[in-house]
Amino acid sequence: MIRRYSYQSLRFLLFLLSCVGPEKFWPTCIVDHSLAEGFSQPDGIGGVMSPMDLHTSFFGHHTSKQSCAHIVNVGKPRPLRVSITDFGAVGDGKTLNTKAFENALQYLHSNADSDGAQLTIPAGRWLTGSINLISHLTLFLENGANILGSEDFNDYPIIPELPSYGRGRELPGARYSSLINGDNLEDVTITGENGTIDGQGGVWWKAFRNKTLDYSRSHVLELIGSQDILIFNLTFQNSPSWTIHPVYCKNVVIKNLTVLNPNDSPNTDGIDPDSSQHVCIEDCYISVGDDAISIKSGWDQYGISYGMPSKHIQIRRIVSASKTFGIHAGVSFGSEMSGGISNVKMGSALQNLTRTWRIH
Ligand SMILES: *[C@@H]1O[C@H](CO)[C@@H](O)[C@H](O)[C@H]1NC(C)=O
Ligand SMILES: *[C@@H]1O[C@H](CO)[C@@H](O)[C@H](O)[C@H]1NC(C)=O
Ligand SMILES: *[C@@H]1O[C@H](CO)[C@@H](O)[C@H](O)[C@H]1NC(C)=O
Ligand SMILES: *[C@@H]1O[C@H](CO)[C@@H](O)[C@H](O)[C@H]1NC(C)=O
Ligand SMILES: *[C@@H]1O[C@H](CO)[C@@H](O)[C@H](O)[C@H]1NC(C)=O
Repeated sequence: MIRRYSYQSLRFLLFLLSCVGPEKFWPTCIVDHSLAEGFSQPDGIGGVMSPMDLHTSFFGHHTSKQSCAHIVNVGKPRPLRVSITDFGAVGDGKTLNTKAFENALQYLHSNADSDGAQLTIPAGRWLTGSINLISHLTLFLENGANILGSEDFNDYPIIPELPSYGRGRELPGARYSSLINGDNLEDVTITGENGTIDGQGGVWWKAFRNKTLDYSRSHVLELIGSQDILIFNLTFQNSPSWTIHPVYCKNVVIKNLTVLNPNDSPNTDGIDPDSSQHVCIEDCYISVGDDAISIKSGWDQYGISYGMPSKHIQIRRIVSASKTFGIHAGVSFGSEMSGGISNVKMGSALQNLTRTWRIH
């Protein structure tokens, strides 16, 4: 008992230390009772478990029902629904369906009323380049649906650098758009019956390693300046770099996801809330090549002058087999938190490696 208590105290202390970091722009980590969850080692986790075992052990038998998912109001079912097949898409894994996605979203944008619309993706392998979502949308991946990112970089338009970074993350200047993008949206749900969104990142990792990229790598999902976002009950995999990147967003719930990037894939963080506020991440299994979750807020003088912190972030019941599960404290990635980070609450967070919190 005493040993266990000391172990928890040590981890608690380490977490507090991580809150004061070297950056003067990192004001506070407010710690509440939900934090205590994060420092008790649940029984029965250990040895080799499959993602499903871990899912079951958490979603099946976990007693704590505490949840932050209410910060997004999901509203009524969407009255207008179409399938991607209505727009000529072919789910053979070879036909490029970018145009079908564009036409479907354009149609929904023009025809939906204020309750919005649903784009359904049935079982199949739907290859596409970069797509741009619309407001008041549910993107629904049925059982067996796979959205596959094109392996041709030309299918990802070049977009401007983020103002809080002042450059691409890896190279100066502009950057590749993501597979799925949302810019200045509200009321968007991305969900389904455990469908998969697959960035097919292999070509990106190769090009990154052999230094043949002209611009910074893409993400599987990037939402910029958007609010009331729910990402739920899906699998994201093989991201070119960070997998899910909400930046300048508000009211974001990321729940019951599986995120799978190979352990040796470069910089493939799971979820990176960046200069975002009121973010709830819970009940996820994350096995990636870098941080499971990394909270950010811009880079150097750009992050400081943009001045948008990440705050009111809640994280609980995360199972991670990633290299690190942590909050970057600015040193290893330069200062991708120059806009500040405050009020982060951590619930049960586990990983399969010795180092749970990454402290710089
Ligand atoms: C989540 O996905 C599972 C399939 O993995 C499905 O059975 C379940 O109904 C989905 N949940 C919701 C709320 O749609
Ligand atoms: C969900 O999909 C992932 C990846 O395909 C798979 O590992 C997992 O077993 C699936 N879960 C369910 C309940 O089908
Ligand atoms: C670098 O990687 C890209 C993407 O996989 C590949 O097309 C290209 O041939 C590689 N170039 C060299 C010099 O290895
Ligand atoms: C969460 O995801 C798992 C795995 O896909 C699924 O079996 C379960 O039904 C999901 N939970 C809810 C509430 O949908
Ligand atoms: C946990 O780590 C062990 C040893 O590194 C590995 O064999 C196992 O697959 C990992 N479990 C998960 C769920 O990733």
